[in-house]
Amino acid sequence: MKQGKVDALLGIVFGDEGKGKVVDVFTPRYDVVARFAGGPNAGHTIIFEGKKFVLRSIPSGIFDEGKLNIIGNGCVIAPDLFMAEARELETAGYDLRSRLHISKRAHLILPTHRVLDRAYEAAKGKNKVGTTGKGIGPTYAEKASRTGLRVGDILEDFPRKYAALKARHEQILRDLHFTDYDITEEERLWLEGVEYMRQFPLTDTEAEINRLLAEGKSVLAEGAQGTMLDIDHGTYPFVSSSSTTTGGVCTGLGVGPNKIDQVYGIFKAYSTRVGAGPFPVELFDETGDRLREIGHEYGAVTGRNRRCGWVDLVALKYAIMVNGVTQLIMMKSDVLDDFPVIRVCMAYEKDGQQTTDMPYDTEGWTAVYRDLPGWRTDLTQMTSEDEFPQAFRDYIQFLEDELQTPITILSVGPDREQTIIRSL
Ligand code: IMP
Repeated sequence: MKQGKVDALLGIVFGDEGKGKVVDVFTPRYDVVARFAGGPNAGHTIIFEGKKFVLRSIPSGIFDEGKLNIIGNGCVIAPDLFMAEARELETAGYDLRSRLHISKRAHLILPTHRVLDRAYEAAKGKNKVGTTGKGIGPTYAEKASRTGLRVGDILEDFPRKYAALKARHEQILRDLHFTDYDITEEERLWLEGVEYMRQFPLTDTEAEINRLLAEGKSVLAEGAQGTMLDIDHGTYPFVSSSSTTTGGVCTGLGVGPNKIDQVYGIFKAYSTRVGAGPFPVELFDETGDRLREIGHEYGAVTGRNRRCGWVDLVALKYAIMVNGVTQLIMMKSDVLDDFPVIRVCMAYEKDGQQTTDMPYDTEGWTAVYRDLPGWRTDLTQMTSEDEFPQAFRDYIQFLEDELQTPITILSVGPDREQTIIRSL
């Protein structure tokens, strides 16, 4: 029997690339959809059969009967938030318990991890990361320091393990003089969430995925966050705490690199970032405000204004390299419809020096731009690339030449029909 393959669908800049809109182009093509990293810091809106859902921890294949969805070992999961997310889907009639398996090796986010997230941020003063406050960093730190609780722990002797870890966190918080918090209600819901999670198949998902691959089944590894927020390859320390890149697919699902086939890299026709940290293409002027307004660039989890700028080829080339991207997907092209000039960041500059390689630290680097003519045409009504204006074709061609990677899907508006598939 032919061995199945894993394809990865990854945000390749700072997250928020709009993956929610393309997943339904992808999910029907796969037997399994799996999340391999991150947790409820992610949030993408999916409109399914006219109803709107925000998925945070649950993979996007959840709407299709007969598809297996997996929350892999590389993820972190908050039982209370998972319960809220899952119940909404169950209320809408989706039978989750037969379609969703959770890795016993995924780590649990405790209510006190969220308090620690706030405490560590407060202690950082002006060097705050600007986290989503969901306890992501403290949970992954605990995983690395080998003191964390995993999903499998809820199956045995859980109250004792929970009390011990909570006590440890409370001690750290006392040491940090961070004592003004009350998690009573949060903890009640969290413990209810733990009971709720027990009703789901908590399994050795890595063995399951490999068995399905051996049976010839196909797997979509659904990324969260983006390459520039990766713990190794992002703009450290202003990053999230997981491996958001293709390497994270292998460790976060337990699949070998030889099982990975296509790596789809999603980016926007311009750039955004939420949270703190260097962002060489950031625009502080009216153009930045216009990009934010037209592109509705406000955080899905936190509601914060996203920082906006022109597309960044330094970041994209780096992301294509570290992920081994085979195909690109460009989102929100239509946001640029009215700009007379489209700028593209070709290099970074600092102290009179230019580079096209991603620097070790992007702080203090500014963007060097090339100006391209805008298309000044409404792309949103177009249904095939034959209708594209020449200036937009030139923009696509320019990016493909620079990035040495084909752009195979283009989004020209918020609706799922406004997605143009050139080839896949
Ligand atoms: P954390 O993941 O909550 O620890 O946040 C670390 C950094 O990653 C912050 O700058 C967040 O704004 C950013 N971040 C985390 N998740 C996402 C996401 O899904 N989209 C965009 N930014 C994110």
